[in-house]
Amino acid sequence: MPDFDTSVPHIARVYDYWLGGKDNFAADREMGERTLQAYPNLVYSVRANRAFLARTVRFLAAEAGIRQFLDIGTGIPTANNTHEVAQRVAPQCRIVYVDNDPVVLSHAKALLKSDPHGACAYLDADLRDPEKILADAADTLDFSKPVAVMLIAVMHFVGDDAEADAIISKLTDACVPGSFVAMSHAASDIDAEQQTEMVRRLNESIAEKATLRDRAGVAWLFDGLELVEPGVVRVSDWRPDSEFEAASPTGLWGGVARKP
Ligand SMILES: C[S@@+](CC[C@H](N)C(=O)[O-])C[C@H]1O[C@@H](n2cnc3c(N)ncnc32)[C@H](O)[C@@H]1O
Repeated sequence: MPDFDTSVPHIARVYDYWLGGKDNFAADREMGERTLQAYPNLVYSVRANRAFLARTVRFLAAEAGIRQFLDIGTGIPTANNTHEVAQRVAPQCRIVYVDNDPVVLSHAKALLKSDPHGACAYLDADLRDPEKILADAADTLDFSKPVAVMLIAVMHFVGDDAEADAIISKLTDACVPGSFVAMSHAASDIDAEQQTEMVRRLNESIAEKATLRDRAGVAWLFDGLELVEPGVVRVSDWRPDSEFEAASPTGLWGGVARKP
């Protein structure tokens, strides 16, 4: 078991608690409850985010023909992990997962159960070090072919706009035209008061501080890329499979864009 402090809440484990998972400790559950009290729709919001992740991966594999995924800020494995959704469409899909949380690392085995026709790898690395991510991911992914960079509910941990922009630029510069970025991001302009209080409580003790961005700020992060329809929308409104999915409350903006 890697060495980590279970007395301090960590975002991956708090997120796992919000999703109803069991890979969390007392401090994570306590923070989970405190944040839910501030923003009761959070449970729906994170579920809508997972559904968005699954729909975007399915779109990328089935409609855009993507066979390689770089999933940064993977989270603790749960239902419909990226490789499961992608390899259901095309078993030869190759996936590199990246997270900097030792707890996610300790669960990495579940993320590496690749279809034998494809491949899965896990990198213990920081989003703020895209050069290292790209260098290590190249052992599994062929960057001369299109790649989908998945930034699902992770860019809000990079609060500085210039730094966030530079990270995304470095990642997309390494990818050929026809590659994609899928991103979701906690919103400052949906349920604003409740989300602001939720993030304030979260930031009291988690190491990775969260920053909310408004819709224009999230759209700006896609700058230079071509957003596919319907653009940057509430994650529940991104190509929902049913009216039920579309109706889910959510506090995240999301979109998918293609590198021209
Ligand atoms: C809210 S969870 C999202 C998990 C998954 N992408 C999803 O949407 O279901 C955010 C994840 O990003 C990871 N994370 C946060 N900051 C990171 C960083 N600087 N580098 C790598 N991973 C990071 C956390 O450890 C956590 O697992």
